[in-house]
Amino acid sequence: MAARILDGKQFSASLREDIARRVSALKEKGVTPGLAVILAGTDPASEIYVRNKGNGCREVGMHSETILLPEDVSQDALEAEIERLNQDRRIHGILVQLPLPKHLNEEAALAKILPEKDVDGFHLLNAGRLMTGAPGVIPCTPRGALYMIQQTGRSLSGLEAVVIGRSNIVGKPMAALLLRENCTVTLCHSRTRNLAEHTRRADILVAAVGKAGFITGDMIKPGAIVIDVGINRVDGKVRGDVDFESAAAVADWITPVPGGVGKMTITMLLQNTLEAAERTV
Ligand code: GUN
Repeated sequence: MAARILDGKQFSASLREDIARRVSALKEKGVTPGLAVILAGTDPASEIYVRNKGNGCREVGMHSETILLPEDVSQDALEAEIERLNQDRRIHGILVQLPLPKHLNEEAALAKILPEKDVDGFHLLNAGRLMTGAPGVIPCTPRGALYMIQQTGRSLSGLEAVVIGRSNIVGKPMAALLLRENCTVTLCHSRTRNLAEHTRRADILVAAVGKAGFITGDMIKPGAIVIDVGINRVDGKVRGDVDFESAAAVADWITPVPGGVGKMTITMLLQNTLEAAERTV
C-alpha cells in the first residue's frame, strides 16, 4: 500500500478538543450552544446518524435535543416544530434529518429554518452564498472533506478535481468549495459518459456515489488525493464507494471507511453549531 491515510478519527479528536474549549468559553458568557435535530419516521440508518449527532454534542459540552416525529406527520406539524425551534433562544442550530418520509416537501421544510440556524447549510440563502463566494454556512460533509484535503498540505490552486455525485448535500456544494479553492472542477454523475476518463485525470477525486467499491485503482491517477464519501452497508459491514485495496496502491492520500469522512461530518456539524452560537454573542 502506497497511500497515506487521512484519518478522520484523529482530525476529529483534535478539532473537537478545540470546539470543546470554545464551548466552555461561550458558557462563561452565559451561552450554551444548542442543536436540535428533527427526525421524522424510523429509518434505521437515520436513527443511527441522529444518535451519533446527539453523542457528539454531549462530547463537546453542547446542549442537544432530538425531536422524534411520527412517520405520518403532516407538513404543517413539521413546519410548526421548525418555527418553534426558530424562536427558541437555547437552540442555535436546527437540523432536519433527510430523507424525509415521501409525502413531505423537503424544500419547503428546509426553507422554514432561519438561515442563521441552518447548520446543515441547506437553506437556499446559504446555498446561494456558497455559489457566489459570500460567507455563509457550509454543508457539513463537503466542509469535512475539504478540511481533510487541506491536511495533505498540498496547494490546491490549479489542481484537477473530479467530484462524482451531484446531490445537494454533497456533490454540488463540494464542487463549489473546490472551485472556491481555485481547482478546475468536473462534476460527474450517473449520466456521465466514460467516467474513468474523467477520474484518471483527477488530482483530487471525491466519490459520493452510493455504490460499494465502485471506484477501483485503475480509475485513479497515480499520486491522487482520494476522498471516499460513501457509506454503504454490505453484509452487515460499512463499505465506501472506493475499493480501498486497489485505490491505496495508486493514490498518494486516501480516506478510509469507516473512520474517514463520516466522522468528520458530525465534527463539522458541531463546528457549524458552535459558530452559529458564537455569532449570537
Ligand atoms: N442525511 C444524510 N446526510 C445528511 C446531512 O448531512 N444532513 C441531514 N440533515 N440529513 C442527512
